[in-house]
Order: sequence, then C-alpha cells, then structure tokens
Amino acid sequence: MKKISGNPYLLSSDNKILIDSIHLDELMEEYKTPLLVFLEERIRDNIKSFLNFFNEEFENFHCFYSLKANYLTEICKIVCSEGIGIKAVGWPELKLALKLGFSPNKIIVGGPYLPEMLIESCIKNKIKEIIIYSLSDIKKINNIAQKFNHVQNICIRVISQKYQSKLGIKFDDNQIKNLKDALSICKNIKVTSILSHFGTQMNNIGQFEQNIKTIISNLKLLLENKIFIENINLGGGFPEATVMKRDQLIKIARMIKDCFKKSSLVLPNISFEPGRYFVGDAGLFLSKIIRVSEDRWIFIDIGNHICPKFAKCSLRFYNASLIDEPHKYKTSIAGIVPTDQDVLAKNYFFTQKLREEDNVIITNTGAYCLTFSNRFPYVLPTIILVKGETVKTIFDPKFDKDFSLS
Ligand SMILES: Cc1ncc(COP(=O)(O)O)c(C=O)c1O
Repeated sequence: MKKISGNPYLLSSDNKILIDSIHLDELMEEYKTPLLVFLEERIRDNIKSFLNFFNEEFENFHCFYSLKANYLTEICKIVCSEGIGIKAVGWPELKLALKLGFSPNKIIVGGPYLPEMLIESCIKNKIKEIIIYSLSDIKKINNIAQKFNHVQNICIRVISQKYQSKLGIKFDDNQIKNLKDALSICKNIKVTSILSHFGTQMNNIGQFEQNIKTIISNLKLLLENKIFIENINLGGGFPEATVMKRDQLIKIARMIKDCFKKSSLVLPNISFEPGRYFVGDAGLFLSKIIRVSEDRWIFIDIGNHICPKFAKCSLRFYNASLIDEPHKYKTSIAGIVPTDQDVLAKNYFFTQKLREEDNVIITNTGAYCLTFSNRFPYVLPTIILVKGETVKTIFDPKFDKDFSLS
C-alpha cells in the first residue's frame, strides 16, 4: 500500500483509499462532503515520538500542547490522556483544560492580553506559570496574588529576533531596570522562565538556532543582573510531523546543546509548546469537485472560510476518486466563498482528468483551520474522529451549533 501525503494512516492501493482501517468509500456512503476527519492514532503517535525523542536528549524536558492549534474537546481529551501539559492563551481555553482534568501544575497560561479575570482564575487554580508579554503585567498579577496570599510563577516572553516581531519584551538597560524595580516591590511574583517563540512552520534549522541564540543572550543579560532563570521555553513552530522528519529533530536538539556548550551557560530545564506538530497531519478534509472550468481551475465544496490561508497549513490535494492516476498536471483550486480571493492552490500538480463529483482529499488540515475559520454563512462541515475501524461523529452541524469556545 502507498502512503498518501507521507501519512501512515492514509493509504492507497488499487484505486482504493484506507483512512486508518476504514475504506473511504464506506465513509462516503455514511457522510456527505465537506467532512473534516481526525486520526486519533496519528495524534498519539506524534505526541509519543516527540516526547520519546526530546526526553532522550534532555534530562529535564517538558511539553505543553498549544491548545489554540485545535481546541476541540475530543482532540484535547486525547492530548490529556498522553500525559503532556497544556498552554492556554485565554479564559475559555483555561476553563476547558481544567474541565478535562489537566493538572494545574501542567497548565501554563499567557499571551499579549491578560484580563484580571484570567489572572485571578490562574491564581485561584494554582496554575504553573503565567506568561507575560509586558512588564506592566507584573504589578497587576502581584496585586491579585497578594489578595490570595500566593506566590505566582511568571514566564517572561522575550522578543525573538524575527524581523518586525512585536510580541514580547526587549531587554535593554531600561527594561532590566524596570524589571528589577518591579521585582523589588512585587513579593508575590517569582520569575521562573523565559520564552521565545520564533514563528510557525519553521522548516529551516537556522530559525530554531536564531531562537536559541535569543534565549541565550537574554539569559546572560538576566544573569548579569542577578535574575536567575530556571526554565527556558522555546515555543512551538514545528511543521506537521509528516513534513518535519525525525533527523531534523535530531539536528535541532544537537544544535541547542551545542549553543549552550559554546555559551558556557548551564542548560536549564527546557520546554516546548508545539501545536501544529501534534495535530496538523492528523486532520484532513474530504471535499468534492463542484465545478470544472476550461482553464484547469476546479472549484471544491470548501473554501477559505473553513480552510483559511491564515492557518498556514502545508496543504496537499489528492483526487481521491482517481488516486492511482499520476498527479502531475497543473491545476488551480478555488473554494466556494464568492470572491476571487478564495484560492486554495495555484498550479498544483493534480490528475489530468478533472470531473465534477470527484472526491478531493486535502491533508494537513488538523491545526489552526478551525481556529482561524470565519462565520461565512455556509453550513459547517461534519467532523469525525477515526480510530482503527471506529468512527465517532464529534461535530454534527445538524445538531451542534458551533465548535467555538466561550
Ligand atoms: C508563544 C507560542 N507558542 C507556541 C505556539 C504554537 O505554535 P505551533 O503550532 O506552530 O507549534 C505559538 C503559535 O503561534 C505561539 O505563539
């Protein structure tokens, strides 16, 4: 059997397609397109291999799933059962994480916007760390922590060296002074970590290297000022697991160790907060060609409202009805949002025959598609979770209003 999109849970032979242990034809009898499919075992494999690998390389390694990549309850339950931590950016995510039973010492919360209600909830629930993007949040958190007689661990996001990045704190003499001043009066705050996240879909090891160099220069600066940091958090940014192979992970781990060796700093506890790597290639859309135009454009029954460019997925398109045919003929693919901007791919290698009603598989749609989807007035897709031969409907637009968190 041949892997489709490099995914071991998507196989084809004799023009038939197997999704985990279910034949695509069986799914198509039961469900209509557009259908969003999640592969439970792929999520588990991705988490396990990431953990096995980094636990082997680093003595004290922690991992927090970036919930915003995919916050569907059934997906989060899978993540929770694999024993990793969670990273939430806001109150709805924190509420979900607590409801699902993530232990508070495995939850970190933070982002550019920390409303008081979120801070209070973090403190009341004794969550592991609050991540701040601005030093002004220190006093705000301290005041609330004082009220609850609690010392809150803080992680400071430092600005990465990425061109034009605005997220986080740039430590210069002035900001170091501000931090020292704040810490001298805020006795209910302990700075335990610094975080630098460079970007998403980092295929190039140089980007990871730049990120670690940023962390090291900030650690040095803080150390010179007698601010001792126990943990470094390198954020996320790994591409889908089928796109980023294990040997690239090996290179990243070696590079991190090397950079620390050269810096003569002791390697602190290390953590990552990946989102896409765990769930990206565990999601796929099943869609249909609804129209073919003469200049090799096809229109399919999804669009950027549910498969948005903003999600930055490594989209791959396959003609599932002609899967054994060579995919080597340039074809452009448009969605159904009535604007010329709804283009999913241009000059993509696809089958020579283009037929209305053919099924199209779009892979690598497990991360950020739902997060960045919008409310364009089309019916939402049905969402199913496949494990072996079992299929569970986890979102049915006939009965379920929405998948958003509130
Ligand atoms: C601070 C931080 N950590 C982790 C992530 C997760 O990134 P990814 O899903 O690319 O691994 C993001 C995504 O934007 C982020 O901003």
